[in-house]
Amino acid sequence: MSLDIAPSFLYMLLMAIKRIGILTAGGDCPGLNAAIRAVCRAASDRYGMKIIGIANGFRGLISEDAKVLKPEDFSGILTRGGTILGSSREKPFGSDDKDEVASEKVSAIMDTYSNLKLDCLVALGGNGTNTTCSKLAREGLNVIGLPKTIDNDIVGTDRTFGFHSALSIATEAIDRLHSTAQSHSRVIVIELMGHKAGWLALYAGVAGGGDVILIPEIPYDINVIASHLEKRAKSGKTFSIVVAAEGAMSITEMQMDKKDRKKYRLENGPSAAYRIAAEINAKTGMETRATVLGYMQRGGIPSASDRVLATSLGTAAADLLANGRFGRMVALIGNDIGSVELTVPEGKVKNVPANHYMIDTARAVGTCMGV
Ligand code: F6P
Repeated sequence: MSLDIAPSFLYMLLMAIKRIGILTAGGDCPGLNAAIRAVCRAASDRYGMKIIGIANGFRGLISEDAKVLKPEDFSGILTRGGTILGSSREKPFGSDDKDEVASEKVSAIMDTYSNLKLDCLVALGGNGTNTTCSKLAREGLNVIGLPKTIDNDIVGTDRTFGFHSALSIATEAIDRLHSTAQSHSRVIVIELMGHKAGWLALYAGVAGGGDVILIPEIPYDINVIASHLEKRAKSGKTFSIVVAAEGAMSITEMQMDKKDRKKYRLENGPSAAYRIAAEINAKTGMETRATVLGYMQRGGIPSASDRVLATSLGTAAADLLANGRFGRMVALIGNDIGSVELTVPEGKVKNVPANHYMIDTARAVGTCMGV
């Protein structure tokens, strides 16, 4: 018997992890069902565990909305978008950082965990979810986190599933904008998701050949963007595509305090693309349009690459369960699947580093990064 197998075999014999709860929380993304299927199949077929599906993220854990999942419940879902379990943005600890204060919701979660006789909870989610998991682990629950998000912004894992599928959708959208921008000799600003990180805009911008890419990590100077667009126009390029992350901000906005920035934003359009389009038009006089891709980026079937990552992370989570290795988040580390302590992603955001090679790649092909 190999050393790898021995601890899990022993753990199963001694501790017998029999019942696990599984939930999906936060914004959905392609690949969630593939991951649910992988956790459930490996946990039940390989390790003989019983799976309890919890509805709508932590909301279902608070209200004890749960049911036993049978094999037919997690069969045929590999390619399906969304999550069969439902999701919500419920944050049981609230949004402040007083994690030592066990709220009523946290007590309700403890009750549900014990009423359902769970031996462990597996939670699939983004930054908020993994932070909640870490806090629940400190409250004494056995918890395993499984990272997902189209934003790719979770510390501790090199990539999240959902990102690759969203990247394909965003790239196709940018491709499609080229023909209409060209026909009308316009500047089109497309806004992509990503929350406070610029991964999606940077990668889709490069893949779709955006002329300007704006990410939150590099506050932009509207004068630099204007002169880049004017130079393009003078060289005979009749249109331009600006790819902006939803969190993109100007140097001017960055220098404002939070209150003034909020006020400025409320007065200058519903979101980043509209603000940036208005600023470009005001500086250059060019006909400029804004478009927001929105929830399309999160919907639909997962890419092959996301299915593979989701399945690998799901089966790795089942291995952690069998080994009794709680308080951890499964992760892609280099080319391998591993895990990190849940404290690693807690309360953090993985931003695009200033020296990331993709920023230089974009610049090397003539893309303006806003400064
Ligand atoms: O976290 C994923 C994400 O899709 C972000 O890119 C976006 O800012 C957010 O969710 C939208 O959230 P909601 O579903 O709450 O509107």
